[in-house]
Amino acid sequence: MVVETIADMKRLRLKLTEPVGFVPTMGYLHEGHLALVRQARAENPSVVVSIFVNPTQFGQEEDFTKYPRDPQRDLALLQKERVDIVFMPSVDKMYPPKFKNWVEVGKVAERLEGASRPGHFRGVATVVARLFDIIQPDRAYFGQKDAQQLLVIKKMVVDLNLSVEIVAVPTVREPDGLAMSSRNTYLNPEERKAALVLYQALSLAQKLWSQGEKDAERLRQEMTDLIQKQPLAEIDYISIADAETLDELDTVRPPALVSLAVKIGKTRLIDNVVVG
Ligand code: PAJ
Repeated sequence: MVVETIADMKRLRLKLTEPVGFVPTMGYLHEGHLALVRQARAENPSVVVSIFVNPTQFGQEEDFTKYPRDPQRDLALLQKERVDIVFMPSVDKMYPPKFKNWVEVGKVAERLEGASRPGHFRGVATVVARLFDIIQPDRAYFGQKDAQQLLVIKKMVVDLNLSVEIVAVPTVREPDGLAMSSRNTYLNPEERKAALVLYQALSLAQKLWSQGEKDAERLRQEMTDLIQKQPLAEIDYISIADAETLDELDTVRPPALVSLAVKIGKTRLIDNVVVG
């Protein structure tokens, strides 16, 4: 069932059998999103999925208006997964003109994606807090693909004492290793091939680490060298950080988050692995 207003969503929520599993998305669904939905389906008698391209998490120069959308296809996919409710609010319902309150996230949101995309996590945390309030989920499912987002949401839940369990789901990849992403549709065939360099760099770091390389700067350098051989790729950041605090490491102490953001042509892609 598709629900478009907050009032209807709140009313129907009262009728759902608990526990309720919730998967927030921006739509244009792929197998990565569906892995979250399937896990929610397996673990809860009721499942709610939201589709909302959240304007406040996009920067001025970013792709909000051209972000890919295909609600009809998304709804057909979610019906197949036997989702109980798809919540698809409009922007003016989620952000009425007088909307003034924001969730400010703090240190864990300031680096990596937060440094490259100022205001991004403030937008993410605010919309997720609002969705949690409307849907009142018992469990909410987030992808490891957006590792920093997962940390930001976990921190928000602890600090604001929200009654929801956050469940992390492993990254789903294309057969060649590229992490699935709605933004992969921006890539032309040549860029699609070049995009594999993100996964290759992460795999290299993982391999060198398992062979005994513990010097984080050496690992960053090896990854940089590999990516720079790809002419279509431009590095935004390469990070080897403590997986909890996101403090950059000198010596790799597991669990460490190896993450990167790389532009392939005009498309900015992110990916990560956890070592240890
Ligand atoms: P979106 O990019 O649509 O992603 C929705 C969820 O799917 C996120 O939890 C994301 O980490 C997960 N996901 C995306 N690609 C994945 C993959 N290849 N494998 C596993 N999980 C994957 O993330 C957002 O939307 C928004 O920021 C949102 C949380 C909805 C707030 O607006």
